[in-house]
Amino acid sequence: MSQPPARRTVLRGAALAGAAGFGLAACSSGGSGADASAVPTKPVDLGAAAEVPVGGAKLYREDRLVVSQPAEGEFKCFSAKCTHAGCILSEVQKKEGSCPCHGSRFDVTTGQVIQGPAAQPLPEVPVKAQGGKLIAG
Ligand code: FES
Repeated sequence: MSQPPARRTVLRGAALAGAAGFGLAACSSGGSGADASAVPTKPVDLGAAAEVPVGGAKLYREDRLVVSQPAEGEFKCFSAKCTHAGCILSEVQKKEGSCPCHGSRFDVTTGQVIQGPAAQPLPEVPVKAQGGKLIAG
């Protein structure tokens, strides 16, 4: 014996409401305001300090960091995540890092913007040379 149509309609409506509720719950766990991914939350071993040229810089794309050595033994580390829309810098020449997405350029010894559209400097990350190795974060 089949159910009367009215009851089936009610059940289907309840199922749809349940699915919609689930969708909303899944969405609410998504975005949060602050960009916590720009700087490391724990120390990162970047390998030999000697790989960073004096008067130049080295890009650590996988770690999203760039380290410069303006004077011997003096290291500066910055997030390599462009402050414009979040691309990772693709190239460093001497002390200039460039973003492949819209052409921003940054001074990787200070983090300052050399050319927009980025308006904010790269966030600085603490770095130290320990036993010949660079530890950032
Ligand atoms: S994301 Fe780097 S210039 Fe736009």
